Amino acid sequence: MSELNVLRIQGGQRLEGSVEIPGSKNAALAILSAVPLVSGVTRLRNLPDVRDVRIKLQLMEQYGMTVTHGEGWTEIDATHLKAAEVGEGLVRPIRTSFYLLGALLARLGKVSLPAPGGCKIGARPVDFHIKGLELMGAKIELESGHYHAECEQLKGAEIYLDFPSAGATQHLMATATLTHGLTVIQNAAMEPEVLALADFLKGAGAKIDGVGTSTITITGVEALQPSESRVPEDRLQASTYLLAGAITQGNVTVIGVMPEHQMALVNKLREAGAEAEEGHDWVRVSCNRRLKGIRVKTMPYPGFPTDIQQPMAAVLALAEGSSVVEETIYESRVGHVSELNRMGANMRLEGRSTLIEGVEQMSGAIVEASDLRAGAALVLAGLAAKGETVVRNVHFIDRGYENLENHLSKLGGSIERIPLEEWEEAYRPASPR
Ligand code: EPU
Repeated sequence: MSELNVLRIQGGQRLEGSVEIPGSKNAALAILSAVPLVSGVTRLRNLPDVRDVRIKLQLMEQYGMTVTHGEGWTEIDATHLKAAEVGEGLVRPIRTSFYLLGALLARLGKVSLPAPGGCKIGARPVDFHIKGLELMGAKIELESGHYHAECEQLKGAEIYLDFPSAGATQHLMATATLTHGLTVIQNAAMEPEVLALADFLKGAGAKIDGVGTSTITITGVEALQPSESRVPEDRLQASTYLLAGAITQGNVTVIGVMPEHQMALVNKLREAGAEAEEGHDWVRVSCNRRLKGIRVKTMPYPGFPTDIQQPMAAVLALAEGSSVVEETIYESRVGHVSELNRMGANMRLEGRSTLIEGVEQMSGAIVEASDLRAGAALVLAGLAAKGETVVRNVHFIDRGYENLENHLSKLGGSIERIPLEEWEEAYRPASPR
């Protein structure tokens, strides 16, 4: 299938029904980064079929791993690793490409990797990763856009993170499993994806304590064993579908989720006037009137997720009264703002905050996704807007949403994927002369 597509949405339907949530992109990427620690075959179930995961698997093949797919499972054999010289093509698009460094170093003693990229939502340095690996005994140099790392034997270390970075916690925790001695990570992230990675590592024989608290301790072992694990469901895709229900004044249930992962969102939606219910593995949000404006501030887990800030802003664009959405994690996760304004929203940026004056109606427009979650925000706005919305740059959305348009269609949304070329020929309105 061509990578160049648009999503064409006819707004105005009330979304109703349930969605079975696919595997988590961010948990999958964290686990895949740790797979080369295992000299043998790892079998993963429920790996999401999203673009970032496909790219990551291709990159892993470059380092000598073999990947086999079956019905509902993927096996990665990391027995024979090689310290390949890998080009930027598979590394720049995704940030977690860099998180392979620690595992490859622990196994090979020497590795180089181009500097990572990822969604353009802020500077996104990797200094915590580098400092942590250096404390474990790695020598790392950045030259011509490539990190070159080597070590004799990685050793346990005391690491304090200046910010509870999900990625640095995952990368350093995984690497520490194959060091000599004890590693302590203080001010560690508590994101569910850190827990998912720890479950995988423990299943392979790692010794890890304190996951889910701000201090994690890892006692290094000689080797990790082949194992089988299941990638948990994606809390961020789940939140997006709940918001699709809220923005269309509908009633959406997400199934296969851990309700506690939706607590921050659900409580903010309740504050805005929505109704929510939950069971042991499902959450439902329903809404039969216009929401009220509220304040939202992103925080590390269990705070309100930065990844849901943009979709939430789309919902608040239609709420009654004023809202403020404050982003504290990334300095420029704001690509949705100008596009939502193009659809009739009334939003402006002030420092790290988006100030929103709710409007009664948005109207469909041709808009461009600038990153993954901005794309999700535009799709949500399109579902609620009057008339037709066309979202371009769908490849950003494909990074982290599996079958987004199919799930939304099943809920009653009118949304279809069209190859860009076909849309340009058949549907695109002639540009004004
Ligand atoms: N940071 C540093 N130095 C570092 C690492 C992080 O300054 O060495 C800063 C970042 O610049 C950012 C903050 O720390 O300001 C938090 O970054 P974190 O490391 O927690 O984020 P990440 O691991 O790069 C993951 C997710 C993001 C999600 C964040 C926060 C993956 C692949 N990505 O990124 O997901 O927003 O955690 O929860 O797991 C997305 O899915 O759309 C996405 C961007």
